[in-house]
Amino acid sequence: MASTGVFSDILYGDVFKYYADGEWKKSSSGQSVAIINPTTRKPQYKVQACTKEEVNKAMERAKFAQKSWARTPLWKRGELLHKAAAILKEHKSPIGECLVKEIAKPAKDAFTEVVRSGDLVSYCAEEGVRILGDGKLLVSDSFPGNDRSKYCLTSKIPLGVVLAIPPYNYPVNLAVSKIAPALIAGNSLVLKPPTQGAVSCLHMVHCFHLAGFPKGLISCITGKGSQIGDFLTTHPDVDCISFTGGDTGIAIAKKAGMIPLQMELGGKDACIILEDADLNLVAENIIKGGFSYSGQRCTAVKVIFAMESIADALVEKVNARVAKLTVGPPEKNCDITPVVSEASANFIEGLIMDAKDKGAKFCQEHKREGNLIWPLLLDHVTPDMRIAREEPFGPVVPVIRIKSIEEGIHHCNSSKYGLQGCVFTKDINKAMLISDAMETGTVQINSAPARGPDHFPFQGFKDSGIGSQGITNSINMMTKTKSTVINLPSPSYSMG
Ligand code: G3H
Repeated sequence: MASTGVFSDILYGDVFKYYADGEWKKSSSGQSVAIINPTTRKPQYKVQACTKEEVNKAMERAKFAQKSWARTPLWKRGELLHKAAAILKEHKSPIGECLVKEIAKPAKDAFTEVVRSGDLVSYCAEEGVRILGDGKLLVSDSFPGNDRSKYCLTSKIPLGVVLAIPPYNYPVNLAVSKIAPALIAGNSLVLKPPTQGAVSCLHMVHCFHLAGFPKGLISCITGKGSQIGDFLTTHPDVDCISFTGGDTGIAIAKKAGMIPLQMELGGKDACIILEDADLNLVAENIIKGGFSYSGQRCTAVKVIFAMESIADALVEKVNARVAKLTVGPPEKNCDITPVVSEASANFIEGLIMDAKDKGAKFCQEHKREGNLIWPLLLDHVTPDMRIAREEPFGPVVPVIRIKSIEEGIHHCNSSKYGLQGCVFTKDINKAMLISDAMETGTVQINSAPARGPDHFPFQGFKDSGIGSQGITNSINMMTKTKSTVINLPSPSYSMG
């Protein structure tokens, strides 16, 4: 059932329209893509299956609209973003309800995602006005052999058309974390939402439409990645790609041309626990970090390295908390909700069965109903088990017992991923040394990994990504430096 009211103009029959050239449109393909509700496992919504020709048109319009947008005063661009942020927050209920149905996000987290997104857009507007209003003046006589006859003025200018591809787990928040920096910096934006999460994205884009952005500046193209994905990511009119998701990002990076890329890919975020750690704090963070949104976060705690001497006590504390997690539908705000698809549930189950065959200790009974997988802590996991290396994106957390800190660091750095990691200890000196040794984009000391607050730099090393995100970094990344050099006459020139 599609939502109505203020969003009714984005529907054609029971299929959501796509957005291009300032209008809501029906695709000429006559085809749609079904979105399956992860909880009911039945079709929930339908979106347009856009054609390559429609992609071409959106790109053409984006290219055209960007030219005058880049000349729109910065404060005006900021003003429109503030307006969109306010409209987005006003619509947190209908958008949140979509998130619940499309991606089975617990209702409270779904509403939080929309509010966080509004805050992100506003912050972006303010930060953009500050940092893009700032240029540089260089004088030539600081470089050997030069006199003071050249003045170089540098400023940040937009890249052109930014292609944004967010993932299913934060379709709204990780879309606006690309859209808002792109727009404040004077770029136009083509959004390709994930299939699960597409309707939430369309609703979010509708808020930008209501705010009154110029025609063609923002487009939202829906359809199957297998049909239009490569066409979009290799399109000659794209000047920058900002992608969040899985290994597909690596394939995109290999095919993209000479354009800036911002990629946030997978993670195997390690949690190293020292002997002096506050085990209650650790257990709370493992629950929050490992099981929130059923582990479907790139920053989820995905492997625990616990010193042997405290491992039994820690596992007991975590188990006591796992027992209190509620399991069920997102509408009831359960802690553990169905994972996004049957394929995903099957993959997670494969990892669990592999660990079972290789001798892991199950701290809870393994239970699955449809896409719903009960939370599971796996103890005595060894490095040869798939769960020790692979990313489950589900409510399963492995514990590997370590004899030394070096062993924990070694395991962490053996991963092909390097997104975030965390270390728990009361000794700040050790924490800092461990942070230095961990090959991850961020190390959290005494807390679970997390991307936010959204203005913090956020980056992955190795197969976890390219470039750095966070509001300030994203704005800078979506601009290029332009210099104008004023050449003065030679010093012998007479001013009369
Ligand atoms: O899934 C990837 C997200 O960037 C994680 O964001 O740490 O706010 O849950 P989060």
